[in-house]
Amino acid sequence: MDYVAEPVSMVSGEIRVPGDKSISHRALMLGAIAEGTSEIVGFLAGEDCLSTLSAIEALGVRVVRHEPTRLSVDGAGLRGLAAPGHALDMGNSGTAMRIFTGLLSGQRFDSTLFGDASLSRRPMERVAAPLRLMGAQIETSAGHPPVRITGGQRLRGISYPMPVASAQVKSAVLLAGLYAEGETTVIEPAVTRDHTERMLAAFGVRTESQAGRVTLTQGNGLRATRIEVPGDLSSAAFLLLAGSVASSGELVIDDVGLNPTRTGVLEIFRLMGADFEVEARPTPIGNEPVGRIIVRPARLRGARIPRELVPLSIDEFPAVFVAAALAEGETVISGAEELRHKESDRIAVMAQGLRVLGISVEETADGARIRGGALGSGEIDTWGDHRVAMAFAAGAVRASGPVLIRDTANVATSFPGFVSLCNSIGLKLEEHGDDHPTSAG
Ligand code: S3P
Repeated sequence: MDYVAEPVSMVSGEIRVPGDKSISHRALMLGAIAEGTSEIVGFLAGEDCLSTLSAIEALGVRVVRHEPTRLSVDGAGLRGLAAPGHALDMGNSGTAMRIFTGLLSGQRFDSTLFGDASLSRRPMERVAAPLRLMGAQIETSAGHPPVRITGGQRLRGISYPMPVASAQVKSAVLLAGLYAEGETTVIEPAVTRDHTERMLAAFGVRTESQAGRVTLTQGNGLRATRIEVPGDLSSAAFLLLAGSVASSGELVIDDVGLNPTRTGVLEIFRLMGADFEVEARPTPIGNEPVGRIIVRPARLRGARIPRELVPLSIDEFPAVFVAAALAEGETVISGAEELRHKESDRIAVMAQGLRVLGISVEETADGARIRGGALGSGEIDTWGDHRVAMAFAAGAVRASGPVLIRDTANVATSFPGFVSLCNSIGLKLEEHGDDHPTSAG
């Protein structure tokens, strides 16, 4: 599957983006171990969350899909999951694999988790190591998937200073903490997304957070609830980029998540001169801030990206690279080594793609220096990375000619309907090829 993206001048409309990926995964997992039936509305029907859905079904949980984005989950209770009859396929999803590793460490049965070629290259010891300290028995394959978990272990709470700022590791340790004796504390080197803590509270389990420490006391089980999943700000980021680099129009994105542990991208784009208005709404059920963003075209300028914003915008860096390419002056990204461990090595893949389009990029170990200029036409290899594909599709709005974007099928992992939504706001995006069962458009 490939895209051909052509330059356009106007981007405008009023839209919603699909549900938040991080929140959708967690709603399924916590719903699965709650007592009673949870309802999830605004669920992300993307392939990553569908991998989590298949996995909880394989663990004996009944899920009814009333609509693609509205489902109910008959929770099995904290100790009611059943041994899966087969290894669990996490597809392209690092979030599913890492958080399930924590959840499954506390079960009485064994399980094995595997994934696609990209996921099979991603680091898993970062999650296995703290879980082993809790008493879990986990094997990785030289640090990578498949991950094999031997159940029936007695877990004990730990206090764990995370070497890397990772919400996935924090979440895995906290979910294992539900099954551990005593308190479990995770200490973060930098603030990471707190969806797990907020959602545990919605399911009736309190955690205490202060000064970079999150503590969970094992005890009560989870009570089923209703979760309203807001739109995914990480998906909206590509459209905010398109709306910023267009020459005319006004784009409104409604009902999008505005959790402060995720809004780093808004701060970065603003620092670069973007014109956003953000209006918060009453918080929906599930404890997540939500609102609307209005974006108008602006002249972007290069910036030195503050390191502390990196974990708060980690998934949006492909969009930041493209914004930098279209900005006046130099942008310096540092402290972002984690980008090398995402669905692709996003520093290398973005640098390579931007150079093809005529932009001067100097790669560093933990970031890049990007000299803004005119974006040319050319052929980009995404290395199968959904966010790389969407970033170049948005940037093509301001290219001098068509941009051919190769290997785009994985856009369906996080943003089903991307092509048609883009075309509805004025982008010119065509999709070719049918080598994937789920159309991205
Ligand atoms: C996620 C956490 C982030 C992010 C990923 C989703 C989550 O990863 O990149 O897309 O849902 O917890 P890390 O926690 O590894 O930084």
